[in-house]
Amino acid sequence: MPSRHQPVLMEQVLEALQPERGGFFVDATVGGGGHAHAILSAHPGNRLLAIDRDVQALERAKERLAEFGDRVIFEHAPFSAVVSLVEAAHSGKVDGILADFGVSSDQIDDRERGFSFMQDGPLDMRMDRTKQKTSAARLLADSSEDEIEHWLRDYGEERYARRIANAIVKQRRFGPLLRTSQLADLVGRTIPSGRSGHHVATRTFQGIRIAVNRELDEIEVFLQATPKLLAEGGRLAVISFHSLEDRACKVALRNEARGGDFKNLIPRGATANQSEIRKNPRSRSARLRAIECVSKGGQA
Ligand SMILES: C[S@@+](CC[C@H](N)C(=O)[O-])C[C@H]1O[C@@H](n2cnc3c(N)ncnc32)[C@H](O)[C@@H]1O
Repeated sequence: MPSRHQPVLMEQVLEALQPERGGFFVDATVGGGGHAHAILSAHPGNRLLAIDRDVQALERAKERLAEFGDRVIFEHAPFSAVVSLVEAAHSGKVDGILADFGVSSDQIDDRERGFSFMQDGPLDMRMDRTKQKTSAARLLADSSEDEIEHWLRDYGEERYARRIANAIVKQRRFGPLLRTSQLADLVGRTIPSGRSGHHVATRTFQGIRIAVNRELDEIEVFLQATPKLLAEGGRLAVISFHSLEDRACKVALRNEARGGDFKNLIPRGATANQSEIRKNPRSRSARLRAIECVSKGGQA
């Protein structure tokens, strides 16, 4: 089935990466292949390493990008492995790297993946069901109340983290939480419904998803590794969707820029305009940051 995911901040991403220069690019989160398609279309000589840890996403991307033939190399892997993946795919440094973190609409809309509180499905949330052993249901069954509270508070930014963690642990006495609807209902019964317009379980699902996929660890390794892969003039662009991710990106890219070998291209980050938000509400929380390698300095 073709991807239904609409890529965010497309214009700003292309401005940051400048794929019309021609070269070797990496899309570390190829997803439905929207950004990748634009990168490959920008110059007939462009080649791309397309990474995703979700097999289904990769299949969709292969279909979407078939017209580019062997200009694309696909890798089913977490982007924390980016250094070895680049080494295997390309000799030398790369001209641009993109990461568009988080989940795609294809993943959220598929009830069987268990990412959505809007539809009933197994409480899974693994991005890679072939390699990751621990689903959300398993994690909630095996973890302490303190651990669950930490994920909800720190990853989900849920102010009622303690209350919800306590309710989850109490619920376990009556049987395991196995379905997304069970978890969404439990949160609905436990905390007030707020006025933000968001579903009451939004933050809980976000916190648990980030824990299941160790998303912040992945991002940290990626941000440390990728600047070293860039050629002079090469660019790294990252899109985050919540404040924890964005903080990690802001600090990492600012520190690189302070070292003098990199220039911060968008110091405050770029966000979607009203017209994009109207067409694609998911873009509301997206923030793009980017650096350019201006000198190979002391780097190997
Ligand atoms: C927001 S979507 C990317 C959409 C893509 N830019 C497009 O234009 O269609 C995020 C993708 O990143 C993948 N992903 C998330 N974390 C990952 C990780 N640590 N390693 C590799 N892929 C990851 C997800 O499986 C998902 O397909």
